[in-house]
Amino acid sequence: MKYFYPENSILLAPLAGFTDLPYRNSARRFGCKYAFAEMVDAGSLVYGNAKTFRFMERGDNEEWLGAQFLGSNPEILSKATQIMNEYNFDVLDFNLGCPAPKVVKKGAGAALGLRPDDAIRAFDSIVKLSRFPVTAKIRILDEQDPAPTVDLCKRLEASGAKAITIHGRIKDKFYAGDVFHDVIDAVREEVDIQIIANGGVMGTESYDAIREQTGCESVMLARGAMGNPWIFKLLLDPETFLHPTAVELAEEMETHILNMIDYYNESLALKIGRKVILDYLKGRGYGGTMKSRVSKICKLDDFKGFIDDIKQGPNDSYWDWLNYNPDAERQLRQV
Ligand SMILES: Cc1cc2nc3c(=O)[nH]c(=O)nc-3n(C[C@H](O)[C@H](O)[C@H](O)COP(=O)(O)O)c2cc1C
Repeated sequence: MKYFYPENSILLAPLAGFTDLPYRNSARRFGCKYAFAEMVDAGSLVYGNAKTFRFMERGDNEEWLGAQFLGSNPEILSKATQIMNEYNFDVLDFNLGCPAPKVVKKGAGAALGLRPDDAIRAFDSIVKLSRFPVTAKIRILDEQDPAPTVDLCKRLEASGAKAITIHGRIKDKFYAGDVFHDVIDAVREEVDIQIIANGGVMGTESYDAIREQTGCESVMLARGAMGNPWIFKLLLDPETFLHPTAVELAEEMETHILNMIDYYNESLALKIGRKVILDYLKGRGYGGTMKSRVSKICKLDDFKGFIDDIKQGPNDSYWDWLNYNPDAERQLRQV
């Protein structure tokens, strides 16, 4: 088997609307090396959408950074690849797994994955011109029968894919339900390139299970890392891992959002940062009152006051709950 990522790599997925530079920096503070920028729509790049060009920025301290394309038209993808060649990435990934209705309607993402001939034509148009190694990210095509997924991956391999990330859910399941590890395993058995397993990794138990049941040593994290950059530290070194305290949680949220303010501006950062803040609070015992305050954060002062309150920690009932649920994947450490 040819490795593209070193053995046992843990990748941060491209997450549309999330994995901007401040987001990646937060993950990197906890040990994430292999991170992807936000997905780039090939058409937006070709037609010069200003917002799209921001997705191409690489931080000075980013040792490794991947880009991801979305599209279906080979001509547009060729043009977009030539534009992409002017930027600095370590890999160019092709999205064959996005199930969002507006993407599927255009025949891209997961809809393209279901049309292997068209998918390969599109993929070839990128490989032919890219100065970067090209990989693909797909969903499984069938839950019961591995053959269609194996076939797509073999064809991607023959077209020059250096690695393939497989999300073990079909298009119609979006992000819910079982992850079919056996289908990922069947692909891994049949190709020579590295297969990265993806889907449902939220902590050590799911991490161990996906690796064991797919036979893939490397894994991509998505929702498990949202609001939880500590997961990188946990999976890289579970023996010494300590959950963050309320103060550590608040400090990381503050650093992340202040970085966003530097990167965008105060009002935009606080607006798009609300979903980021809510992700940090998820599963950590902060009640509805704190969560509803998030939508009212408009100024830096509001945010600072909010952070001070987060430092006070969740209600006492959370610590009682934790006594009964000591294995909760996202939790705070009581000091
Ligand atoms: C908010 C959000 C945005 C996503 N954006 C992308 C994307 O731009 N490109 C992509 O390949 N997958 C994207 N995904 C899918 C994830 O990369 C991943 O395949 C999926 O969430 C399954 O992994 P998980 O169960 O660990 O979350 C996104 C998922 C979420 C929840």
